[in-house]
Amino acid sequence: MQSTLQTDNNAAQVEPDFLPLLGTDYVEFYVGNARQAAHFYKTAFGFQSLAYAGPETGMKDKASYVIRQNKLTFVLTTPLRPHNPVADHIQQHGDGVKFLALQVDDASGAWKETTQRGGISYMEPTSLKDDSGEIVMSGIHTYGDTVHLFIERKNYSGIFMPGFKAWESAYNPSETGLLYVDHCVGNVGWNQMDPWVKFYEDVMGFRNILTFDDSDISTEYSALMSKVMSNGNGYVKFPINEPAIGKKKSQVEEYLDYYNGAGVQHVAIASADIVGTVTELQKRGIEFLKIPGSYYKDVLDRVGKIDEDLEPLSKLGILIDRDEEGYLLQIFSKPLQDRPTIFFEIIQRKGAKSFGKGNFKALFEALEREQDARGNL
Ligand code: FE2
Repeated sequence: MQSTLQTDNNAAQVEPDFLPLLGTDYVEFYVGNARQAAHFYKTAFGFQSLAYAGPETGMKDKASYVIRQNKLTFVLTTPLRPHNPVADHIQQHGDGVKFLALQVDDASGAWKETTQRGGISYMEPTSLKDDSGEIVMSGIHTYGDTVHLFIERKNYSGIFMPGFKAWESAYNPSETGLLYVDHCVGNVGWNQMDPWVKFYEDVMGFRNILTFDDSDISTEYSALMSKVMSNGNGYVKFPINEPAIGKKKSQVEEYLDYYNGAGVQHVAIASADIVGTVTELQKRGIEFLKIPGSYYKDVLDRVGKIDEDLEPLSKLGILIDRDEEGYLLQIFSKPLQDRPTIFFEIIQRKGAKSFGKGNFKALFEALEREQDARGNL
């Protein structure tokens, strides 16, 4: 079983990166009610109002609210009428992530490089202009109905994008210490992990940096497999999960049933003070998976010395894991909507570059308790 970080950097050093990425630009959710969703993300997670587009700005069939916290930007979009792509997406999937938008220096080049390697175009390079300059965007399809947009904003000084106006709000709940997207995980169907790994390798020039098979990620009842894909500079990481055979239904299968296909399973958000962040989130009503107290009895034997006191970690349910380079602290929210589909991870890395393999068992047992309560295990 190979679950250590691969150190074969030679290929990456020799070949220039044909798709240089500056990081995640934004994550756009299609939701049933964007006004209420924006209020929820502001209230519970401490996002700040940034921009708005809708009928008042000339966008007739949908409304989008842009919210931000540090380098984390979410767009919440809802349809205003039936029978359009946003309404159809929600009809199929419920609330979920439509766009994982990546910031690039050259959106035309990104589109050309990826489509000539087999990427299916979603949007040809398109220039959007207003008094603040120009945004160029393009996009390709990935798993399910999910899309990667390439956003070039080096010649733009406006608040978000042409077509949006500043969203001034008198309601500004304090931030909770969320910093940026650490990674975004996709769930794909049976036997679809490797084809999507190949897509990220061939079309986007990513590398498989970590692999977990069903012996790593299984409990008594259910299993999944996962491969972590990373771009050249490591700013963008997309683990891809598929279900594996177990005695009962895999959590990935439950997701696929309710999302009606492949899609984003979780967005992992970095914090520099996970204890402070999670304390605040819990105070504001965000619920996390419950880990049994027994986890904390021997966790320090497994991970060694850490800077934090164990007591607040165990009180909040924060998990700990260590790899060769350091350790990490992480916690997983319950689903963010009624369907058991997308959820968030909050992660604080203290050197570790891995994904919490040592926590998989405790975590998946916790997930299965929730799955069982829904009658889906
Ligand atoms: Fe994760």
